[in-house]
Amino acid sequence: MESVLVTGATGFIGSRLVHSLKEKNYSITALVRPGKHTKTETDEVAGDLTDSNLEFGERSFDCVFHLASHTPLEKNVKVLEKVNLEGTKNLFKAIQDKTKSIIYISGLGAYGNPGDNPINESNPYNPDTNFVKIRLQAQEFLEEQCKKKGINFAVVHFGDVYGAEGWFYQMLIKRLLKKSFKLPGGGKYFKGFVNVDDAVGSTIAVYENKGFGESYIVADSVPVTFKEFVNYTADQIGAKHPGNVPNFLAKAVLGSDLIKLLTTSMKVSNQKISKIYQFKYPSYKEGIPAVISELKSKNLL
Ligand SMILES: NC(=O)c1ccc[n+]([C@@H]2O[C@H](COP(=O)([O-])OP(=O)(O)OC[C@H]3O[C@@H](n4cnc5c(N)ncnc54)[C@H](OP(=O)(O)O)[C@@H]3O)[C@@H](O)[C@H]2O)c1
Repeated sequence: MESVLVTGATGFIGSRLVHSLKEKNYSITALVRPGKHTKTETDEVAGDLTDSNLEFGERSFDCVFHLASHTPLEKNVKVLEKVNLEGTKNLFKAIQDKTKSIIYISGLGAYGNPGDNPINESNPYNPDTNFVKIRLQAQEFLEEQCKKKGINFAVVHFGDVYGAEGWFYQMLIKRLLKKSFKLPGGGKYFKGFVNVDDAVGSTIAVYENKGFGESYIVADSVPVTFKEFVNYTADQIGAKHPGNVPNFLAKAVLGSDLIKLLTTSMKVSNQKISKIYQFKYPSYKEGIPAVISELKSKNLL
């Protein structure tokens, strides 16, 4: 039985990853903050990334999936550095002699503003927000240290991950229903979306196919604007199409990094990941109805 550690295991994507790994019979350890628990019963280590004495006792791992992170909703650069960069260093110190491989989860923001052509993994990184600059420093740190230590390393860049939790439920569905959602800047920018099941499935596929020494873009490759995506979601739940809010007002509420990341237009190619993983939901048109059914089955809609 292969043994893995998941950080961020109480979060939207991490909890789904733990569930899928358990279904596949992995032996899972979850890093959870003190007082928190995973939804799927599993071995837990209570700890915080900001603790420089983080430790995992006698455990050893075939792979560490590092998902724990502050979201771009956090506006304080010092806090972002403490958790996303220093926290990653603390984690590495604790696992460097205990794991054969590390998969680091990041986002598409690493590619900055790439213009009109679909991006793939050969596009240069070009971060233009503090949030992404810090995440990239953490990635570079891990990559370099893994090379020195002979640990396998891969990075997975998720598009915007939608599912029955996280931003899609909390910030979009609930607000569409309350008629309080507004499209920053009118929403006519392209986005790479991915259903949470495909985000998790792709990540496991990278591990199982030994896709180390590589980076992967994980998003569906059907170009769609944020406005089309939001209006389609509204239609699925019988809500009205939302109006717009100017970017400067959205930034004042949600922070400039988040709004910059959201409103930067990006089309993506998922050819590389598609060689090792078949998407369950090739586009939002299949993926959103599946999420709506899940929300209904959980009486959340
Ligand atoms: N959601 C997306 O659309 C998206 C898109 C691209 C990339 N990503 C990346 O995917 C990963 C997971 O995202 P998510 O949406 O699942 O995020 P999330 O729901 O906000 O979960 C974040 C997780 O990190 C944990 N965490 C935060 N600070 C920590 C600390 N100091 N010590 C230990 N654990 C800590 C949280 O623990 P608590 O439960 O205790 O707070 C939680 O388990 C992140 O790296 C994110 O940047 C997400």
